[in-house]
Formats: sequence, C-alpha cells, structure tokens
Amino acid sequence: MNAQISIPREISLLDKGLRLTLPTGSEAYFNYYWLRDNCPTSFDSATRERQFDIFHLQQPPLAKDARLVDDKLEVEWANEAHVSRYPISMLSAYSGGARRVDPADLPRKAWYSDHYPSIARFSQPQLLKDPSLVADWIEAMLTYGLTIVTDMPDSNEGLSETVRLMGHVRPTFFGEYFDVKTHINPTNTAYTAKALELHTDTPAEEAAPGIQFLHCRANSVQGGLSIYSDGVAVANDFKETDPEGFRLLSEIDIPFYCEHDNYDMRSRQRVIELDQHGEVSGLTISQHMADIFDVPQDVLDDYYPAFCRFGKMLQDDKYMMRFLMKAGECMVFDNHRIVHGRLAYSATSGDRYLRGCYADRAEMRSTYRALVSEGRFKS
Ligand SMILES: [Fe+2]
Repeated sequence: MNAQISIPREISLLDKGLRLTLPTGSEAYFNYYWLRDNCPTSFDSATRERQFDIFHLQQPPLAKDARLVDDKLEVEWANEAHVSRYPISMLSAYSGGARRVDPADLPRKAWYSDHYPSIARFSQPQLLKDPSLVADWIEAMLTYGLTIVTDMPDSNEGLSETVRLMGHVRPTFFGEYFDVKTHINPTNTAYTAKALELHTDTPAEEAAPGIQFLHCRANSVQGGLSIYSDGVAVANDFKETDPEGFRLLSEIDIPFYCEHDNYDMRSRQRVIELDQHGEVSGLTISQHMADIFDVPQDVLDDYYPAFCRFGKMLQDDKYMMRFLMKAGECMVFDNHRIVHGRLAYSATSGDRYLRGCYADRAEMRSTYRALVSEGRFKS
C-alpha cells in the first residue's frame, strides 16, 4: 500500500512545468512535455521502445495535481485521464540537464613508444568462451585504442568470428575484407613492398570505419616492421607546444580522396578530432590519400607549416612503436585514433600476409554497454 510521504516537500505547478525539491535538498524543474513523454507507461516492456506518441496530444500537457508518494512523483494530467508515476531516482538523474551517463565514455590513456610490452593481449579461444573477457577487451580498446588478439586460428573464419564478438564486419568501398600482400598491379601503396607512412585508413569515406582488424597470417620477410603511434598522445602534446597549430588542425577541414578506374571517393575531414567533451579523440591523416588542398591559399600560409610540424611530431621516436607482427596475432585498433604503417620489406625474402577488415565503433560501444551496464529495461 502506498503511503503519503511524511516529510512534505514543496511542489510548485507552473505554466510550462513543475518545480520540486529532491531528496538531496536541491530544487529541480521539469518541463511538462518532458514529463508526459517520459511517463514510465510510455515504454513498451516487450519492444523496450517508446509507444507513446506525443505528436498526438491535442493540447500542450499540463499538470492538474502532483504529489510525492513513497519514492515516486505522481502527476495527474489536465485534459487527459492519465496519472504518471516517476521514480525520484529517474528525476534526479535528469534534473541537472547533463547528458545521460554512458559506461562506454571512458577516459583515454595516452601511450608512447615503449608501450609494446604493455599492450593488452587477449587469447582468441578464451574470448570466444568468456563474455567478461570480451568486456575487458573492449574496455582496453576504449582506453588505449589498441589491443592484440593472440592465438588466432589460421583461417578466414577465425577473423570473422573475432569481429563478431564486438559487432559485424563493416564493409568499405573495397569490400568486406582486404588482403595486405604484394599485388602484381597494386591499387594502393599497402599492396606493395614499399614503406607505408603512418596513416588512418580510408579517410576518403564520409565516415571512415571505426575499428580495424589486421590478422597476421604469415610474416617471414626481411623488414616489414609494423609501426604504430597514439594520435591522442601526439595531439595532446601538440596542443601544449603549438596551440595555434592545434587550433588550425582541429578546425579546418581538408580534402581526402581515393580515385582509380571505377571509383572516385572524396571527403573532408579535420586532422585532429575532438569528442563531445572537447578532448582529443583522435586523428584522420594519410599522406597518400590527402587530396590537393582546396582551401584559400593564404590560409595555407599558416595551415601547411602547422600540418608539417604535426606530421613530424607524429613520427617522433617518443611516440612510435616498432615491432614485428607474428603469425597468429591480430592487431585491433581504433582507426580514428591510432596511426599505423610499416617499414619497407624485401618481397622475395619470404611471405608476408595480413588479412584485414573493419568493425563499427558505435557497435563496439553498444556491445560494451550491454555487457557491463544494467540498462533501463533489464529486470
Ligand atoms: Fe592501413
């Protein structure tokens, strides 16, 4: 049985919303549209979607009466035979106007050239068996942007089943998978034995893929060391040492392209990307896919030197890991944060074969939330 709460708390019914005192003692204001739209009965328990359609209200929602009963706020609506009951905990969560807490919004930890021995490693057969390990894996991805999956099966399916632990294979205009080995008629520097400077992949796409998988199937060549740097580490240091350069690279869009016989992909991106908090989330950079800069030439008087200062910093020994990938390892990294490349190798000295594909970052975060958080609809 519900009992009228013993400590009276003031509720003021206003024209467009109501004001009440929360258990913390702070005053909070809630708009009537927001309250009506988010009545707990608005959500279907089976589909977990909102079934109430606020567009069908004939008149603006208006409270006729409101009271606190136990740990709920009860609102009786005028012009509608409906009573809403809101848990105070829900109202408290939204009272400050802050964004909903996101368990996948984890602080990034910058890493430097000595990071290789500390890279979080996860055994693929163990990941397949243990969802809690998948949560640890994604947490490491969100924090460091780069992990290694070990003990990979030497098969195409091995890569696919690894991707499926966090989402789906996300195609690009090259298709679902790509094979990095020397091609006879290469359409991409990656398919030669030449050095490949630090870059992020497919920047010419409107939304470049979020997570990259590179599964090493063979690596017995001379040379071909992998190189990786953390774009967050470099860009944060750049912000300290070169604030004007940082501003230019984080505010001005530059063009990227990928063009051959049957495609002409183009996009505009900012080299340094910021997140919802204004923090550096990563980079989009690729010397071999940067288009001819079509921004005013006088802007380039400042932009180009800043771009070059940043590009040099990116290749500084302070930041760059160099290591040899081994067969059976799969590099998994955030393609909007981690820059990668390789040193040249001798194509006739052995085999070098990496099979790669991508997954979506938002889907990875979704999988993480489902693994670690209670959610609103789980009982
Ligand atoms: Fe690449």
